[in-house]
Amino acid sequence: MLSYRHSFHAGNFADVLKHIVLIEILEYLKKKDKPFCCIDTHAGPGTYQLNGEYAQKNREFENGIGKLWQRDDLPDRVANYVNLIKCFNNSELLTCYPGSPAIAKQLLRCKDRLFLYELHSTEIELLNNSVNKDRRIKVFHADGLKHAIGLLPPDERRGLTLIDPSYEIKGDYSLVAEFLVNMYKRFATGTYALWYPVVERSRNQKLEKAIQTSGIKNVQLFELGIGADTNQHGMTASGMIVVNPPWTLSATMQQMLPWLADVLSKDNKGFYRIQTLLGE
Ligand SMILES: C[S@@+](CC[C@H](N)C(=O)[O-])C[C@H]1O[C@@H](n2cnc3c(N)ncnc32)[C@H](O)[C@@H]1O
Repeated sequence: MLSYRHSFHAGNFADVLKHIVLIEILEYLKKKDKPFCCIDTHAGPGTYQLNGEYAQKNREFENGIGKLWQRDDLPDRVANYVNLIKCFNNSELLTCYPGSPAIAKQLLRCKDRLFLYELHSTEIELLNNSVNKDRRIKVFHADGLKHAIGLLPPDERRGLTLIDPSYEIKGDYSLVAEFLVNMYKRFATGTYALWYPVVERSRNQKLEKAIQTSGIKNVQLFELGIGADTNQHGMTASGMIVVNPPWTLSATMQQMLPWLADVLSKDNKGFYRIQTLLGE
């Protein structure tokens, strides 16, 4: 039984990093005229109402998109992200936050395709309503970790797979590493972006090691922390591990991450990592 609902966390500091990286990759893919395919293995409900009961419970968005929303000194690419979020809000008031499916849908061209997987029975209904009959998009009420591999290699021979699990159980870390390796074996030139939380650093170290010893090449890691690592409950940082990243991504993230770590940090304990896990 799945209990995780991303609506509690929508727009938090982890979503800021995840969605900035997503946008950067999709915009890079759009630079070539050729179509691409985007797969989102853990799609969630599509869009989030920040004035709704779930988002209001802990108001996590206040320490994410909320801190960027009104600023007029945003670095260029952060402004690009905030402007995209503004497309989902009719006024200066921040009430709606797009999830990864809505962001991808917004950036897709007529010729591109988007495949969305979601397992939760309530989230899948919301997702279907959110992406609403679009011939470029296919929604599956299915396990993305089991079924998305069947789409590879895509006809377009170029594209992104976003892997954004909720890590409800410890075993998820090894499961996603295995999944990533299997996807890569089917389509080694595709781009893969794996989101991870930092709640207990040793789990991340294992995940990084598993990827580093897997035979995958060309892997970069981008991490944003708002507080120092701790043994106490809760997420203090999160990151994206990107296989076959756009060659521009590292430099672009270098322009954003120090600024974001400063602005989103708690008690001046913000930090970031940009690391090549595996060379080309
Ligand atoms: C972190 S949320 C996704 C958030 C979304 N990617 C976004 O950026 O808005 C993870 C989602 O994956 C769903 N989920 C969990 N395990 C899954 C699986 N094996 N296959 C597909 N969906 C799954 C959960 O129900 C949840 O909605």
